[in-house]
Amino acid sequence: MNILEKTDFKNLGEKYVGKVRDVYSQKDKVVLISTDRYSAFDRNLALIPCKGQVLTQVSRFWFENTKDIVKNHVIDYPDPNVIVGKKCKVLPVEVVPRAYITGVTGTSLWTLYQKGERNFGDFVLPNGMRKNQKLDKVVLTPTTKREEHDRPLSTKEIIEGGFMTKEQWEKVKDVSLKLFKRGQEIALQKGLILVDCKYEFGLDENDEVILVDEIHTPDSSRYWQAKTYEGRIKKGMEPENFDKEFLRLWFKENCDPYKDKVMPKAPVEMIEELSRRYIQIFEQITGTAFKVETGDIEKRIKNNLKKYQI
Ligand SMILES: Nc1ncnc2c1ncn2[C@@H]1O[C@H](COP(=O)(O)OP(=O)(O)OP(=O)(O)O)[C@@H](O)[C@H]1O
Ligand SMILES: [Mg+2]
Repeated sequence: MNILEKTDFKNLGEKYVGKVRDVYSQKDKVVLISTDRYSAFDRNLALIPCKGQVLTQVSRFWFENTKDIVKNHVIDYPDPNVIVGKKCKVLPVEVVPRAYITGVTGTSLWTLYQKGERNFGDFVLPNGMRKNQKLDKVVLTPTTKREEHDRPLSTKEIIEGGFMTKEQWEKVKDVSLKLFKRGQEIALQKGLILVDCKYEFGLDENDEVILVDEIHTPDSSRYWQAKTYEGRIKKGMEPENFDKEFLRLWFKENCDPYKDKVMPKAPVEMIEELSRRYIQIFEQITGTAFKVETGDIEKRIKNNLKKYQI
C-alpha cells in the first residue's frame, strides 16, 4: 500500500525511531524521514496516508520563508518525505510561543489558568480571561525536552539549571519571537491564525544556535481559521481549527490506549478524513496543490537517498 509505516535502511547511519520520524544519524548529518504514523498516548495509533509528505513539505515551506531570520539545519530535500539536516547538538528546551490562551493538555496555558495559575515565571496574566482569547502580547513558554513529562521552565531555571547559557537563551528568545511573528503574518495572508507552536534549536559545528527539527507543521503548531474566529468566539464556540483530536478521542472511547496490548482499528472513513485534513492544511498554508505520489514510498525513498549512503 501507498503508506509509510516505518523504514529499515541499511548504510544510512544509526537509526532512532521517533514518534513520527525515523532519524538516521551520520557523522555530520541527520536524515529525517517523516512517516505516516499518527501518535498519541505514547503509541502509534494509526497510519494516515500522505501525512509524512505533508509534514515534510509544510516544514520546507516555512524553512524557506524564514531562513533570513535564522539559519536552519536543512542541507537537502532529496525526497518528498525526507529532510537531510546538519547534525546538531539539540538544546534540551522546547520553545513554545503562544498568541492565545487555549489548550487542553496539562501544560497548556488555559489548563493552568483555569486552575488559578496567574504567574508563569516570565509573565503574569490578568484575571478574567476567557478561553481562546488573544493575549496582549506573544508569550514564550519553554519546557524541558527529553524528560518524561514536559516541565515548564522560566528564564532563571534555563540559565541556572544549565539548559542554555544566557547568550544562547537571548538568541533563542529573540529568534523565536521573530519566527513566530513571520509565521503569523504569512499564515494570516492565507486566512489562518497561527495560535501557538513549538521550536527546537541546536548548536552547529561552530556552536552557533540554529533552527532544527520541523517548523509550523500541523503536528507542532495550532492553526485556526481567521475568517470565523471572532464570530465563533462571540457565540462561545470553539474556533474553527485543524482538528486531529477526533481520532484520538475515538481511541479513548473504544479502548484503553494505556493498557490494551492490541488496539482496535480506526474506521477507514476517519483515517481518510484525517488524511484529507492534512492535505487541505498543506494547500491552504502553501497555496499550492498537493501532489499525491503513486508507487511504493519506501522504494522511492531508498532510491532518492542513494547518495547519502555511508
Ligand atoms: N538537526 C538535527 N540534529 C540532531 N537531531 C535532530 C535534528 N533535527 C531534529 N532532530 C531530532 O530528531 C528527532 C525527530 O523525530 P521525532 O520528532 O519523530 O521524535 P520524537 O518522538 O518527537 O522525539 P523527541 O521527543 O526526542 O522529539 C527529534 O528527537 C529531534 O530532536
Ligand atoms: Mg519531535
